[in-house]
This record gives sequence, C-alpha cells and structure tokens, in this order.
Amino acid sequence: MTEMPRQPSDLTRTAPTDPDQATPQTLISAEDIATRLDAMAADIVRELGPDITMIPVLKGAFVFAADLLRALGRHGAKVRLRVQFLQLASYGAAKESSGTVTQTGTLPEVEGETVLVVEDVLDSGRTAARALELMRDAGARRAALAVLLDKPERRVVDCPADFTGFTIPDRFVVGYGIDWAERFRELDHVAVVD
Ligand code: IMP
Ligand code: MG
Repeated sequence: MTEMPRQPSDLTRTAPTDPDQATPQTLISAEDIATRLDAMAADIVRELGPDITMIPVLKGAFVFAADLLRALGRHGAKVRLRVQFLQLASYGAAKESSGTVTQTGTLPEVEGETVLVVEDVLDSGRTAARALELMRDAGARRAALAVLLDKPERRVVDCPADFTGFTIPDRFVVGYGIDWAERFRELDHVAVVD
C-alpha cells in the first residue's frame, strides 16, 4: 500500500506531531472492548442470522474483526465465516483523511451473500460508504456495517453503521489494530494521542 506523504496541514491539526513523542492515554479498556463485542455479536446474529460473510477493511479492522469473529462464534452463529479482506486506505501516514479512498487488492466475491463489512473507525464515512457500495455492486444480498468506533462529529458522507461498538468524540485514537503511521496497533486497548 502506498503511504501518502504527511501534509503540512496535518502537522498543525493536533499535538504531538511525532508518533515517537506520543504518550497514548487509555480511552477504552481491553475489558470494556471485550464486554461490548459480546453484546454486538449477539445483536449481529439476531439481525443477520448465522450465515455471514465477514469483510474486514484492512488494515485497521483486523484486530477488531478477529475478536468479533470469535464472539460471533460464541453466539451460536454456525458462522460459515469466509473471511475475505478488502483493503481500503484514506489516511496514509497523515492524521487527517486524504478524502480519496483507494481500493487495493482483489475484490472479494460476495454474490448473493449476507455481508458484514467490519471497519475500525467511522470518521468522514467515505471508507465505509465505499466498502458497502463495492459489496452491493458485487451482488451482496445484504451489506451491513459494523464499526468499533464512531466519530459522528466528523461525518461528511451519510453512512450509518448497523452495529456500533462505541461512539466517541473527535479525538485521534490508536491501539487495538488502529495505527498512527503504522504505530500503536499492538495496544490491547483504545487510546488517544491528541
Ligand atoms: P473515513 O473514510 O474518513 O471514515 O476514515 C476511516 C478510516 O480512517 C478508518 O478506517 C481509519 O483507518 C482511519 N481513521 C479515522 N479516524 C482515525 C483515528 O482517530 N486514528 C487512526 N485512524 C483513523
Ligand atoms: Mg482503516
């Protein structure tokens, strides 16, 4: 995936400007994430039924998707869970979305399937809207959206999530798979760095 060069405007948006200088502060603990995912999985199975094709949007959603996958399994979903990945990128190395969403990699085959698009952060809404559009164009019977974090204040494109983990204020977050310039994905919780 091509990394976008960081733009000067991004450097002034928030402090600190260097991932190496940042001290992430916990926003959502690992325990709270686990509890919430369990409830989300119950909702998802109730609404979509057990036959789900999960489409995690790489790379940020991979940790969330892995835990959600197992939570779905615990909720009796005889999940014929063909995990297919969709790689979309809008941020590059910057802390501000570039506004364009590029799709890289192969488009998953989802003809006639009930698709759950799994995204880490619903921000402007562009990435999720594009993912859902790609799935519908590819013939999905239903395309639903599950997001770990929703930042409603940032929305540019109308794209409501069907299943939301946590609604958070307009803060720059990292951890639990979510990165800043490829850093901090390893944290087991969600933290703020701005
Ligand atoms: P959108 O297309 O503007 O909704 O952006 C969604 C994508 O931006 C997510 O998949 C994330 O990868 C990224 N993103 C949004 N907010 C944050 C954040 O606070 N930290 C890190 N990445 C973010
Ligand atoms: Mg992402």
